[in-house]
Amino acid sequence: MVESLKKSGSDELRPGVKIPAQETLLTPRFYTTDFDEMARMDISCNEDELRAILEEFRTDYNRHHFVRDAEFEQSWDHIDGKTRKLFIEFLERSCTAEFSGFLLYKEMGRRLKNKSPILAECFTLMSRDEARHAGFLNKAMSDFNMSLDLGFLTKSRNYTFFKPKFIFYATYLSEKIGYWRYITIYRHLEKHPEDRIYPIFRWFENWCQDENRHGDFFDAVMRAQPQMLNDWKARLWCRFFLLSVFATMYLNDIQRHDFYAAIGLDARDYDKYVIKKTNETAGRVFPVILNVESPKFYDCLEVCVKNNEKLTTITNSNTPKFLQTFKKLPLYTSNAWQLLKLYLMKPINVSLVTGAIG
Ligand SMILES: [Fe+2]
Ligand SMILES: [Fe+2]
Repeated sequence: MVESLKKSGSDELRPGVKIPAQETLLTPRFYTTDFDEMARMDISCNEDELRAILEEFRTDYNRHHFVRDAEFEQSWDHIDGKTRKLFIEFLERSCTAEFSGFLLYKEMGRRLKNKSPILAECFTLMSRDEARHAGFLNKAMSDFNMSLDLGFLTKSRNYTFFKPKFIFYATYLSEKIGYWRYITIYRHLEKHPEDRIYPIFRWFENWCQDENRHGDFFDAVMRAQPQMLNDWKARLWCRFFLLSVFATMYLNDIQRHDFYAAIGLDARDYDKYVIKKTNETAGRVFPVILNVESPKFYDCLEVCVKNNEKLTTITNSNTPKFLQTFKKLPLYTSNAWQLLKLYLMKPINVSLVTGAIG
């Protein structure tokens, strides 16, 4: 249905309700997992810390935070053209990512309820936060005469299955990178209020603290399962997830550099800072982190950026589909080769630099 509507030239599912962006390797994903395996996890070796985090979630610091104020009540038609398109896309991607967290955490809360009560309540309270975040973003979309039908999104998206330990690596990183993304934008706009073209960014300071707490929760869960962190497989998987999260963000954001320029940020500088900080943070729990300070790291990613630009040009050309595939193949191969080189780059062993990372 999405395809046929797209072909008719409409971007709307119903008037004012946007068709969700097409899924690609780079769009936010929806996850599901083995809930029984998760319920069987013994968390007793880190139960005190998990209980303390649960208390923080119960306190609900942001209970009254997500309330729109008068600044929203004006026309936003002056944000127009390409900036408007990119702005709506930013809101949509953020809303989809937040909503995907909501669905996953809510389901975990439900499935673990009678089996692992501490984890279950933590998940339910995190889903409360994500629902607020998604709702606030969706309301912002309505300022641009758009919204997402979250019910439609729930049913229409594909769900990626990950075993619990992979869910923990991935969600830990997405929460922490979310924290660094929001706080970096917030601090930049605090210094440059003239670049704050829309009020939502004023909410990011308290908002990102939710993400930080969620990340700390996954940190504590992984510490409760030391086998997730201390063998050779864990080291390989941590490298894999760090690279996937960093490369996906970099390729996405560089493609949308005009959005960041609209709020006075250089997409490359912004991403490099967010990657550096997230990598450092991950060093508190992961046994290895990536050597993102090496110039080779960004050289490889830049080759992928160039390849992606060429791929987009081919897709948008009038070349017949089968010829397109032939033209795209070497570019895909080159991307895979760059990512493999990045994966094989010597990582930083955290145990050797404890104290330097914080
Ligand atoms: Fe969130
Ligand atoms: Fe979160």
